[in-house]
Amino acid sequence: MMKTTVIDALNQQINEELFSAYLYLSMSAQFADMNLGGFSHWMKKQAEEEVEHAMKFFHFINERGGRVELQPIKGPQKEWESALQMMSESLAHEEHITACIDKLMDLAVREKDYATINMLQWFVNEQVEEEAGVSEIVEKLKLIGDRGQGLFMLDRELGVRD
Ligand SMILES: [Fe+2]
Ligand SMILES: [Fe+2]
Repeated sequence: MMKTTVIDALNQQINEELFSAYLYLSMSAQFADMNLGGFSHWMKKQAEEEVEHAMKFFHFINERGGRVELQPIKGPQKEWESALQMMSESLAHEEHITACIDKLMDLAVREKDYATINMLQWFVNEQVEEEAGVSEIVEKLKLIGDRGQGLFMLDRELGVRD
Protein backbone atom coordinates (compact mmCIF):
# COMPACT_ATOMS: atom_id res chain seq x y z
CA MET A 1 0.00 0.00 0.00
CA MET A 2 1.27 3.43 -0.92
CA LYS A 3 1.69 6.23 1.59
CA THR A 4 -0.77 9.15 1.31
CA THR A 5 2.09 11.60 0.76
CA VAL A 6 3.20 9.61 -2.30
CA ILE A 7 -0.35 9.25 -3.68
CA ASP A 8 -0.94 13.01 -3.29
CA ALA A 9 2.32 13.87 -5.04
CA LEU A 10 1.58 11.46 -7.93
CA ASN A 11 -1.89 12.98 -8.30
CA GLN A 12 -0.28 16.41 -8.46
CA GLN A 13 1.97 15.14 -11.25
CA ILE A 14 -1.09 14.02 -13.27
CA ASN A 15 -2.16 17.65 -13.15
CA GLU A 16 1.31 18.85 -14.22
CA GLU A 17 1.32 16.48 -17.21
CA LEU A 18 -2.21 17.45 -18.29
CA PHE A 19 -1.32 21.12 -17.96
CA SER A 20 1.72 20.43 -20.18
CA ALA A 21 -0.65 18.95 -22.78
CA TYR A 22 -2.84 22.06 -22.53
CA LEU A 23 0.15 24.39 -22.89
CA TYR A 24 1.48 22.53 -25.94
CA LEU A 25 -1.96 22.39 -27.56
CA SER A 26 -2.22 26.14 -27.09
CA MET A 27 1.16 26.54 -28.79
CA SER A 28 0.05 24.15 -31.55
CA ALA A 29 -2.98 26.38 -32.16
CA GLN A 30 -0.81 29.48 -32.49
CA PHE A 31 1.62 27.71 -34.83
CA ALA A 32 -1.36 26.72 -37.00
CA ASP A 33 -2.45 30.34 -36.98
CA MET A 34 1.07 31.39 -38.09
CA ASN A 35 0.83 28.92 -41.02
CA LEU A 36 3.64 26.85 -39.52
CA GLY A 37 1.94 23.49 -40.02
CA GLY A 38 5.04 21.45 -39.19
CA PHE A 39 5.58 23.17 -35.83
CA SER A 40 1.86 22.86 -35.14
CA HIS A 41 1.97 19.12 -35.85
CA TRP A 42 5.09 18.68 -33.69
CA MET A 43 3.45 20.47 -30.75
CA LYS A 44 0.25 18.45 -31.11
CA LYS A 45 2.30 15.25 -30.94
CA GLN A 46 4.07 16.67 -27.90
CA ALA A 47 0.68 17.32 -26.26
CA GLU A 48 -0.43 13.74 -27.00
CA GLU A 49 2.71 12.44 -25.30
CA GLU A 50 1.92 14.52 -22.21
CA VAL A 51 -1.53 12.90 -21.99
CA GLU A 52 0.22 9.50 -22.18
CA HIS A 53 2.48 10.59 -19.31
CA ALA A 54 -0.56 11.57 -17.25
CA MET A 55 -2.10 8.16 -17.98
CA LYS A 56 1.04 6.34 -16.84
CA PHE A 57 0.62 8.00 -13.42
CA PHE A 58 -3.15 7.33 -13.52
CA HIS A 59 -2.67 3.59 -14.13
CA PHE A 60 0.15 3.33 -11.61
CA ILE A 61 -1.92 4.90 -8.81
CA ASN A 62 -4.83 2.55 -9.59
CA GLU A 63 -2.60 -0.50 -9.81
CA ARG A 64 -1.09 0.26 -6.41
CA GLY A 65 -4.49 0.65 -4.76
CA GLY A 66 -4.43 4.44 -4.51
CA ARG A 67 -7.22 6.82 -5.44
CA VAL A 68 -6.81 9.06 -8.47
CA GLU A 69 -8.05 12.58 -7.75
CA LEU A 70 -8.23 14.99 -10.66
CA GLN A 71 -7.71 18.69 -9.99
CA PRO A 72 -8.72 21.63 -12.21
CA ILE A 73 -6.26 22.32 -15.02
CA LYS A 74 -5.21 25.96 -15.20
CA GLY A 75 -5.62 27.86 -18.45
CA PRO A 76 -2.50 28.06 -20.62
CA GLN A 77 -1.08 31.23 -22.16
CA LYS A 78 -2.76 31.88 -25.52
CA GLU A 79 -0.30 34.08 -27.38
CA TRP A 80 3.42 34.33 -27.92
CA GLU A 81 5.61 36.71 -29.92
CA SER A 82 7.45 34.19 -32.07
CA ALA A 83 8.32 30.57 -32.79
CA LEU A 84 11.58 31.05 -30.85
CA GLN A 85 9.70 32.38 -27.83
CA MET A 86 7.34 29.40 -27.84
CA MET A 87 10.13 26.84 -28.15
CA SER A 88 12.21 28.60 -25.47
CA GLU A 89 9.22 28.55 -23.15
CA SER A 90 8.56 24.91 -23.80
CA LEU A 91 12.20 24.19 -22.92
CA ALA A 92 11.80 26.13 -19.66
CA HIS A 93 8.59 24.19 -19.01
CA GLU A 94 10.33 20.83 -19.57
CA GLU A 95 13.04 21.91 -17.11
CA HIS A 96 10.28 22.63 -14.60
CA ILE A 97 8.80 19.15 -15.20
CA THR A 98 12.25 17.58 -14.71
CA ALA A 99 12.45 19.36 -11.34
CA CYS A 100 8.99 17.95 -10.45
CA ILE A 101 10.10 14.40 -11.33
CA ASP A 102 13.29 14.85 -9.28
CA LYS A 103 11.22 16.00 -6.28
CA LEU A 104 8.92 12.97 -6.67
CA MET A 105 11.99 10.74 -6.74
CA ASP A 106 13.33 12.38 -3.55
CA LEU A 107 10.01 11.67 -1.84
CA ALA A 108 9.85 8.05 -3.05
CA VAL A 109 13.42 7.46 -1.82
CA ARG A 110 12.61 9.06 1.53
CA GLU A 111 9.53 6.83 1.89
CA LYS A 112 11.47 3.74 0.69
CA ASP A 113 8.73 3.21 -1.93
CA TYR A 114 10.69 1.00 -4.35
CA ALA A 115 7.83 0.40 -6.81
CA THR A 116 7.39 4.16 -7.23
CA ILE A 117 11.16 4.67 -7.56
CA ASN A 118 11.20 2.07 -10.34
CA MET A 119 8.25 3.66 -12.15
CA LEU A 120 9.79 7.15 -11.86
CA GLN A 121 13.04 5.93 -13.40
CA TRP A 122 11.25 5.84 -16.78
CA PHE A 123 10.35 9.52 -16.35
CA VAL A 124 13.92 10.46 -15.37
CA ASN A 125 15.11 9.02 -18.70
CA GLU A 126 12.19 10.50 -20.63
CA GLN A 127 12.99 14.01 -19.34
CA VAL A 128 16.55 13.72 -20.66
CA GLU A 129 15.05 13.01 -24.11
CA GLU A 130 12.43 15.75 -23.79
CA GLU A 131 14.92 18.46 -22.85
CA ALA A 132 17.38 17.40 -25.56
CA GLY A 133 14.70 17.35 -28.27
CA VAL A 134 13.30 20.82 -27.49
CA SER A 135 16.76 22.27 -26.90
CA GLU A 136 17.85 21.17 -30.38
CA ILE A 137 14.93 23.05 -31.95
CA VAL A 138 15.67 26.19 -29.89
CA GLU A 139 19.30 26.12 -31.05
CA LYS A 140 18.26 25.71 -34.70
CA LEU A 141 15.81 28.63 -34.41
CA LYS A 142 18.56 30.83 -32.95
CA LEU A 143 20.85 29.81 -35.80
CA ILE A 144 18.35 30.64 -38.56
CA GLY A 145 17.16 33.83 -36.85
CA ASP A 146 13.59 32.60 -36.40
CA ARG A 147 12.35 33.59 -39.90
CA GLY A 148 12.51 33.27 -43.68
CA GLN A 149 13.73 30.30 -45.66
CA GLY A 150 15.34 28.64 -42.63
CA LEU A 151 12.11 28.71 -40.68
CA PHE A 152 10.27 27.20 -43.64
CA MET A 153 12.83 24.36 -43.87
CA LEU A 154 12.65 23.66 -40.13
CA ASP A 155 8.85 23.65 -40.35
CA ARG A 156 9.06 20.95 -43.03
CA GLU A 157 11.47 18.93 -40.87
CA LEU A 158 9.20 19.07 -37.80
CA GLY A 159 6.15 18.12 -39.87
CA VAL A 160 7.36 14.55 -40.33
CA ARG A 161 7.36 13.63 -36.62
CA ASP A 162 5.25 10.56 -35.91
FE1 LIG B 1 5.57 14.80 -19.54
FE1 LIG C 1 7.23 16.74 -21.72
